[in-house]
Amino acid sequence: MNAQASLFDLQGRAAFISGASSGIGLHTARMLAGTGAAVALAARRADRLDAVVADMRAAGHRACAVTLDVTDAAAIAPAWQEAEAALGQPIGILVNNAGVIHVERFVEQSPEAVSRVFDTNLKGAYLMAQEAARCMVQRGEGSIVNIASSSGLRAGGQMSSYGASKAALIHLTQIMALELAGKGVRVNAIAPGNIETDMHAEFAGIEQGILKRIPMRRFGKPSDLDGAMLLLASDAGRYMTGTVIPVDGGQVLSWM
Ligand code: NAI
Repeated sequence: MNAQASLFDLQGRAAFISGASSGIGLHTARMLAGTGAAVALAARRADRLDAVVADMRAAGHRACAVTLDVTDAAAIAPAWQEAEAALGQPIGILVNNAGVIHVERFVEQSPEAVSRVFDTNLKGAYLMAQEAARCMVQRGEGSIVNIASSSGLRAGGQMSSYGASKAALIHLTQIMALELAGKGVRVNAIAPGNIETDMHAEFAGIEQGILKRIPMRRFGKPSDLDGAMLLLASDAGRYMTGTVIPVDGGQVLSWM
């Protein structure tokens, strides 16, 4: 491997992925393991990950599953410690991925719906990053990758709580980056466009209208995020912090 390619190598590193039982989180856990990282897959029901973890181990990867609901503040630190103990090493990469969407007109959204979205996408990600940063700062190194959304960069109808939570996550990314830059911890965000996962099913019936606003005229796949994810997680992104990388087929350029 030449010097530039080895910048992306995650051999010897460990990563924690929240919301890892499906979609982008599950794909990312597999992808990071494939590049050499030990991975902790966190999900509300870790037993759903038993088969996935067994497959990863059978393929020679180091992996564990931990139970974590990111809206349960008291559960975050124990889950991080459990993951480090299970992997047998400190974790230097957090992929803050757990998220929920709610599609409804602003005036109709119930307090419960608004709380669920903010508690998961913003407060959950905030407390998760806080725990990771506290541990990473002690070792003077780490990378936090927040999974935001193109909805956090541009307004979209019926996405008030979701879009606002993701916009706030982008702002939080920048503040965390500022505060942690001198301590060896980088904080960046990826802003995916429409990626074909369970969440994408929320847009059933209006896909053609969305496609017209995507310059590349196709929806993304979780693997389309691999390049940005690896860049931000690895030493290849060593001078990057506070950035937001859209991965959206150009959608953010041509919103309307
Ligand atoms: P998904 O629905 O497959 O994945 C979301 C994951 O988060 C699920 O595994 C779910 O169980 C988990 N989760 C939800 N609430 C949780 C909680 N309280 N504690 C722990 N885990 C929880 O959908 P997808 O697309 O893989 O979403 C992953 C991230 O990507 C989310 O943050 C989402 O907002 C973001 N995103 C997705 C886009 C898309 O088009 N699919 C576009 C832009 C951003």
